[in-house]
Amino acid sequence: MKIVLTGFMLAGKTTIGNLLSEELGIKFYDSDQLISEQEGLTIKEIFKLKGEAYFRKLEKEVITKLLYSDGSFVLSPGGGAVLNEQLRELFNYKAESFCLDIDAKTVLERYKNSKVIRPLLEVKSPLLKVKELLEERADYYQQVNYHIDSTCYSPEEIVEIVINKLA
Ligand code: S3P
Repeated sequence: MKIVLTGFMLAGKTTIGNLLSEELGIKFYDSDQLISEQEGLTIKEIFKLKGEAYFRKLEKEVITKLLYSDGSFVLSPGGGAVLNEQLRELFNYKAESFCLDIDAKTVLERYKNSKVIRPLLEVKSPLLKVKELLEERADYYQQVNYHIDSTCYSPEEIVEIVINKLA
């Protein structure tokens, strides 16, 4: 079984993905982590030194390879992976896909407490940027089969919702 947990930055994909994979006894993959290991650079460094287009190319390669591989896992793709049409299709076709929904204000609140730099949010007005990106991506996230509001459930509750949906 392959499960994809998509959604905007800070929606809880990694936290929930880790819990869910433990609960199901399957592996957990975070595409940002795989890309970072492969390049020997942080995501921030990849954006800075090689640019977003290069990052998106790696993101597409890493996720495609995983989704065509054998075995069961939970995958947390970066929040921008849905920008790629082929990946959007693969998410629904090769896996059980869930989108963790979040609003701009909550993204910002969570970002203040996050240790992980999101290069796209390192701008003068992160709130405006988040709103712009959410709007730009709304239709893409909408294409994911199943949606869960990440702002009104705990990570444990979301794991339960996913497991019930899979049953
Ligand atoms: C991005 C999301 C990030 C990371 C990169 C770009 C995006 O991952 O891939 O900073 O475009 O939404 P998370 O969604 O895990 O924060």
